[in-house]
Amino acid sequence: MPPEPVQYRCRNRIGFLLIDNPPVNVLAAPVRTGLARALGAALADESVRAIVIACAGKTFSAGADIGEFDGPMAEPTLQAVFAAIEASNKPVVAALHGLALGGGVELTLACHYRVATPEAKLGLPEITLGLIPGAGGTQRLPRVIGAAAALDMIVSGAPVDAKSALNLGLVDVVVDGDLMLGAERFCQQLIEQGAKPRPTGARTVEVAGFDEAGIAGILRKHSRALKGRTTQQLVVEALTAATQSDFAAGLAIERRIADHSITTPESKALRHLFFAERQVSKVPGIVSDSTKAPIARVAVIGAGTMGSGIATACADAGMAVTLIDSHAGGMECGLALIASNYESSVARGRLTHEEAARRRGRIVDSLDLGAAAEADVVIESVFEDLALKQSILSKVAALTPASTLLASNTSTLSIAELSRPCRDPQRLVGLHFFSPAHVMKLLEIVRMPATDPAALGRALTLAKQLKKVGVVAGDAFGFIGNKMMLDGYWREAELLMLEGAAPEQVDTAMESFGFAMGPARVNDLGGTDVGTKTRVELFKRERRPDPYFVIADALTAMNRLGQKTLAGFYRYQPGERQALPDDEVLSLIEKLAVDRGIARRWIESSEIVERCLLQLINVGAHVLETGVAMRAADIDVVWVHGYGFPRRLGGPMFHADSLGLAHVLGRIEHYGARMKNRNDYWRPAPLLEKLAQQGRSFANWDSERIAR
Ligand SMILES: NC(=O)c1ccc[n+]([C@@H]2O[C@H](COP(=O)([O-])OP(=O)(O)OC[C@H]3O[C@@H](n4cnc5c(N)ncnc54)[C@H](O)[C@@H]3O)[C@@H](O)[C@H]2O)c1
Repeated sequence: MPPEPVQYRCRNRIGFLLIDNPPVNVLAAPVRTGLARALGAALADESVRAIVIACAGKTFSAGADIGEFDGPMAEPTLQAVFAAIEASNKPVVAALHGLALGGGVELTLACHYRVATPEAKLGLPEITLGLIPGAGGTQRLPRVIGAAAALDMIVSGAPVDAKSALNLGLVDVVVDGDLMLGAERFCQQLIEQGAKPRPTGARTVEVAGFDEAGIAGILRKHSRALKGRTTQQLVVEALTAATQSDFAAGLAIERRIADHSITTPESKALRHLFFAERQVSKVPGIVSDSTKAPIARVAVIGAGTMGSGIATACADAGMAVTLIDSHAGGMECGLALIASNYESSVARGRLTHEEAARRRGRIVDSLDLGAAAEADVVIESVFEDLALKQSILSKVAALTPASTLLASNTSTLSIAELSRPCRDPQRLVGLHFFSPAHVMKLLEIVRMPATDPAALGRALTLAKQLKKVGVVAGDAFGFIGNKMMLDGYWREAELLMLEGAAPEQVDTAMESFGFAMGPARVNDLGGTDVGTKTRVELFKRERRPDPYFVIADALTAMNRLGQKTLAGFYRYQPGERQALPDDEVLSLIEKLAVDRGIARRWIESSEIVERCLLQLINVGAHVLETGVAMRAADIDVVWVHGYGFPRRLGGPMFHADSLGLAHVLGRIEHYGARMKNRNDYWRPAPLLEKLAQQGRSFANWDSERIAR
């Protein structure tokens, strides 16, 4: 029989309520019932003079059960249980360790006192899901730490450590040593002092700094994370209620705002991503190999931009790394890049000098391919050259046992072709890292039909150890992300430029929509030549040079390679990153348009955004239909983590569902009719057509496939 989710025992005049709901003590319905019952027992027990609420296991409570958000919460609600705790006529002390999040923090706020271990952290991350704390948090927190500090903590969504919590007054005491003994000691002092309960709701709210200017200043501090978001306004509204209304009225206002926050498109999109990010590593037929030893040793071949970033990512994750290059010069550059990345992390205060040195010390270098023999995983990241990569991979396959995972970081080549000369090709996967590899969270894991499930399982484990979001993709050109970018989004962006939009107009439109950076600026940052090389591969594979996808290639031919040559879609001043519009580029685009018989015109930003998004969605439907992506939600994760798609919209496929697939199809047909299906660009993907006609969504498609 599972243990009671809340255990009660009494010792030395203190009633202990211990929440035991592994793994993270979520406050699900049985916990709430258990808390109410155990509280009742402590209140009824005359020998009990004070009450402690604590959690078993590694951490305090991670809060409410997110699965309960879509419907009404089962009785007793969190609000009811917290009200009962607050109304206790015996002092109630929360004893915190590990992480207290969301409803977990709100639980502690309903208690009269809080003690914590030095490692404890408290955070209200609701805003990351487009929600406001809805179980009293917006009314009790300002009564404990002041309205301005409460706003800062709630809109940041980030946890504060025990020391900061002590300074804020959020915890009363930080206890060294055993938490339960510390909590007991604290209670004994309360009993000896005859201390009474201290209900948070009866405390007054400190309003200093919570005026118009103060609020604007706090929101400005978080403006990057909150770009395009609206939930922060709901937080301000709820906190304002705490400063202006009595406690009961404030709670009622919070309830109304919290109920509304659950229904906003922003919250639905953010919760979709929350689940998508957790589901992405679940691959049918792949059993997690958690029984195996973790990956401890990695060899990275090629010390270029990507290889050195991958080596850094592995060292950051605690792995022993052997970095291999065939050229001493290449190795020198790679090691210098690694050293300068660590130095800048120290300079920015992200790492201590000692920690940076420890991580750097995990990387050893070698000019000998034989040094890869001992690794658990070998990642090849040399020049993008099929014969070179094939030769390296087959040599590595010969040097290593069959249990070693082999991987290529190719961005354009077929993994099946790369694997052909290998002795045992089934242990090869693609690991498509994004630049800079030690920073970007996305990792596309490319499997070919022949890839052994155990190898794929190992690759998923590696992604997890690297703390990356590993998304499994099929072995087709561009995998998930680059296929959609090149064959949909960027191609359309160039077509819009040929039709009359300036590069800066396209960039501004897409950035106003919410992309971190517009397509021309991204091209200039990564190098126009990189895209050109990729397109050459695309056309080789698919035998279809594209007459309307030509601007970046023409810029490459002119040696306008982007920021590195101070000229690309824009021009740049030496040492500066500001993109300056360039008449030479406009003349080039005009000439290319004339050559293709395209009449130029003024294009509204709304058309730019709509056409780029429709293309992204349409190619996304192809990627889904052909099985290159397993789920529409996987595509969303790729685009949010790898390509700067605005998180608040949930990813391109979720966004398509929000617009309605019938609407999306109608608009694609509209542009198809208008543009006479230019070069087949506007032919709707059969899957999109089918779903739209059946009144279904990509989400339906995902859930039906997962259910199968
Ligand atoms: N640049 C990106 O944004 C990006 C993103 C994802 C994947 N990729 C892929 O990553 C790979 C590497 O790209 P990069 O930009 O780091 O290239 P790079 O030119 O910066 O580095 C390649 C390195 O490989 C070394 N090398 C060449 N032949 C070798 C051999 N026989 N043995 C060992 N080392 C050898 C070179 O000396 C050089 O240091 C390519 O396949 C590329 O397509 C690049």
